[in-house]
Amino acid sequence: MCGIVGYIGDKNVYPILISGLQRLEYRGYDSAGIAIFNGDLNVYKCKGRVSDLENHVADKDTGGHVGIGHTRWATHGEPNDRNAHPHTSMNGNFVLVHNGIIENYAELKTTLQKKGFTFQSDTDTEVLVNLIEYFYQSGEEMDAETAVRLALSKVVGAYGIVVFCKNEKNRLIAARKGSPLVIGLGRGEYFIASDASPIVEYTDSVIYLNDLDVAIINKDSLTLKTVENAPVPFKVTKVDMSIGDLEKGDFDHFMLKEIFEQPKTIEDTFRGRIKPDHSDIVLGGLLDIFPKIMQARRIILIGCGTSWHAALVGEYMIEEYARVPVEVEYASEFRYRNPILDKNDVVIAISQSGETADTLAALRMAKEKGATILGICNVVGSSIARETDAGVYTHAGVEIGVASTKAFTAQVTVLTLFALKLAKEKGQIAPELYGSLIHELAEVPDKLKSILVMHPHIKEVAAKYKDAINALYLGRGYLFPVALEGALKLKEISYMHAEGYAAGEMKHGPIALVDDNLPVVVVAAKDSYYEKIVSNIQEVKARRGNIIAVVTEGDDTLKAMVNDVFEIPKSHPFVTPLLAVVPLQLFSYYIAVMRGCDVDQPRNLAKSVTVE
Ligand code: F6R
Repeated sequence: MCGIVGYIGDKNVYPILISGLQRLEYRGYDSAGIAIFNGDLNVYKCKGRVSDLENHVADKDTGGHVGIGHTRWATHGEPNDRNAHPHTSMNGNFVLVHNGIIENYAELKTTLQKKGFTFQSDTDTEVLVNLIEYFYQSGEEMDAETAVRLALSKVVGAYGIVVFCKNEKNRLIAARKGSPLVIGLGRGEYFIASDASPIVEYTDSVIYLNDLDVAIINKDSLTLKTVENAPVPFKVTKVDMSIGDLEKGDFDHFMLKEIFEQPKTIEDTFRGRIKPDHSDIVLGGLLDIFPKIMQARRIILIGCGTSWHAALVGEYMIEEYARVPVEVEYASEFRYRNPILDKNDVVIAISQSGETADTLAALRMAKEKGATILGICNVVGSSIARETDAGVYTHAGVEIGVASTKAFTAQVTVLTLFALKLAKEKGQIAPELYGSLIHELAEVPDKLKSILVMHPHIKEVAAKYKDAINALYLGRGYLFPVALEGALKLKEISYMHAEGYAAGEMKHGPIALVDDNLPVVVVAAKDSYYEKIVSNIQEVKARRGNIIAVVTEGDDTLKAMVNDVFEIPKSHPFVTPLLAVVPLQLFSYYIAVMRGCDVDQPRNLAKSVTVE
């Protein structure tokens, strides 16, 4: 949450900052701002999107070769011009952009106020920039870098910051704790950003900062040290991301593009991991750690939001086939509830961004308690990927739409591979079934293509229900998490209230909601729960609910029983979640578009939730 960019070099900085902020807008879009140095320090900022900032600066001086920028997801202080970043210190010596939360800001603010500092905004960030100023003024010999490090040593909380000091004109200072920062290495120039997306246009060589690193960046040199002033060696990494990945192409929205990419992203995720003859699975990232996984007393899957839904699918798969006890936990609960954990536990964090604050903190807690920690992440080089003992990357590519789609199916694909491999190594699965389930997975991309071509029908059905106030989603077994995910997609992008429920729980409460105004989406593909879910459908029908069912191709019984159907190809229940979720993603997408919602940047949300 919050995107930050910085540049120092010979290029004109303004277009670099603006296009960088546009690429990072998925991280927050409450306000945007830039500071550019060209002899004078020009700070421009306003409430709203990066496009509003562009209009705001249209007639202003944006020349210069050093600058910083920010796109905000508001924490402290409402989204307005005053609270927009960059923030300038009272005496005007420092300007700063920040991603994170300074938890002890109130205490620091009072101390600074007693020393005569005054504040223009309600933000924690303005406190930090003034704390830096305070240390800067505290001694004749003080330089900006030392002032930044001293200030950071007093701070409790999370930060990714880039700071500019008016008296050290050819330098930017960046630091991180908890919030990601990447430095791109050009020739005689450096780029700084919250992730690599603003950088790849210029260079594929990057350095990922670690917690408590401080980078002192001049046009021609880079020094890394800790907040405590100890030198830090740095490792240059190559980023594998193309500009095409960052653009919408012919699609109206990133979300739609990402939904349509799923046949490819699922294939990318299993390609190279399943043998061409479907005889085995190789998870290279787990090879060394597999003996530990085999001995695990239980596996705990943690995540947030959509990633937590993927974890639920994983639980069902691992328990059914590998026969290892699995628990699924919200990372935000797990980290605070003092769970019983030891070296016999394997904790797997599932996260698209690899930066979600709660998931990262839960993982660190699990590590401290002696558990083996693994990651299933999409963003290469992300904090979770780097802090885990081992892991498996999903190869979903860059996900820009704030509502997660292709990351979910890629996560479920990895969990499918993991469950099968563990089942095989534990001798819990017959070789024929093992081979045939791998084969089923390999067929998913083609089956998905046949679902995607039905998008005009899904759009027509969406038009019928777009004005509903509430919606209920039901599923059982592997399709229960799909119902949860379908409901989450609808509510987050269309703002229609939607609840996902295990269908068997319906009569314990939600059935009270059913009337002829309520769309009830039932994920009812043919599996071992089919008869039960048909009964649930009857119960809804008896109360005049409008039923939209995801059904297996050729299921004429359900077709005759419900109002609308989305057909999916016949598949083994084990892989059905990968198919069944896709019509629901499209259904939400079309409803949101018809309701005039900003699909890629829904209100109040942002991707990569680096605050708890
Ligand atoms: C929903 C969505 C969120 C994320 C959640 C976890 O569409 O995107 O619920 O799934 O914030 O994010 P990651 O997977 O990055 O840890």
